[in-house]
Amino acid sequence: MGIKETLGHLLETAQQELETIRDKQALEALRVRIIGKKGELTALLRGMGQLLPEERPAAGQMINEAREKFTAMLEARQEALRMIERRAALQKETIDVTEPVPPLPLGSAHPVNLVMAEMVDCFTGMGFEVVEGPEVELDHYNFELMNIPKNHPARDAQDTFYVDDNIVLRTHTSPMQARTMLSRKPPIRVICPGRVFRSDEADATHSPVFHQMEGLVVDRDVTMADLRGTLNAFAERLYGKGITTRFRPSFFPFTEPSTEVDLTCAACHGKGCRVCKGTGWIEVLGGGMVNPHVLEMCGIDPTVYSGFAFGIGLERIAMQRYGIPDLRLLYEGDVRFLGQFR
Ligand code: DAH
Repeated sequence: MGIKETLGHLLETAQQELETIRDKQALEALRVRIIGKKGELTALLRGMGQLLPEERPAAGQMINEAREKFTAMLEARQEALRMIERRAALQKETIDVTEPVPPLPLGSAHPVNLVMAEMVDCFTGMGFEVVEGPEVELDHYNFELMNIPKNHPARDAQDTFYVDDNIVLRTHTSPMQARTMLSRKPPIRVICPGRVFRSDEADATHSPVFHQMEGLVVDRDVTMADLRGTLNAFAERLYGKGITTRFRPSFFPFTEPSTEVDLTCAACHGKGCRVCKGTGWIEVLGGGMVNPHVLEMCGIDPTVYSGFAFGIGLERIAMQRYGIPDLRLLYEGDVRFLGQFR
């Protein structure tokens, strides 16, 4: 048999064998048998020394071509095997979508949001509507229409972040009083929960960003008694039966008269304890009768209408409600702390 026939035969049997091969080991064994160090093709190449010099180039070329063909066959089979393997793996790995999974860890509402939701629920139950205002506010609404003109000393108590001369981060939710009165007619009954900003150092009771809820009622014959009744209902709803309010005279430029409102200490029910420093009362919010000048600036006739307003700090309520000793805990985002309020 000449070299050409030998090579043809070799490739033919290799091909037949390849087709029966089902795994990598057998493939490798065949590779070694044909083109390994002691392989059949390798042996042919070595045996070229016995040929006549003029026969060598043609023989060498034929052997090399056969080697290339064999390598290509080998690779094709390898690829085919890979496909077979992949298909088998996919079939084995089908996902059982009906299999129960372990429960996912659930987040929890933030204590300030919990309190806010409860208060919104309480006031909407009394007929209040929720309105929201911009956190970046015009000086005009935040101060001027709240009866705090430029250079008024009350501005010092609410030093804030100025965006420019006429734009501030709102220092309270009170500007929504003006926005509401300017955009609708009495009867008005709204609450405005939201974020407010003051240029304060953070400590156990202060934060440069905190939350308030504003309340505003404007109608005919609204009196301080309505404010009292509304806040008493709020106190009982949030802290339980027997919790009531105490009004102390105070001053706010946008209310006249103004009041500081205390609630019965929920920890001791008014007997006096550490929480209320022995007084039986906890200071919770500010309020009063809407200053007639504010009504007037906002286009409402103070000889026909009167109103009351109040502003509640939500962090303070949350801290009392859940016995949180330091306001900063609310903003550190530690899930070990936050996860306790479910
Ligand atoms: N805006 C006041 C503050 O941030 C809180 C306040 C007091 C709001 C009296 C009112 C009010 O509506 O009548 O300190």
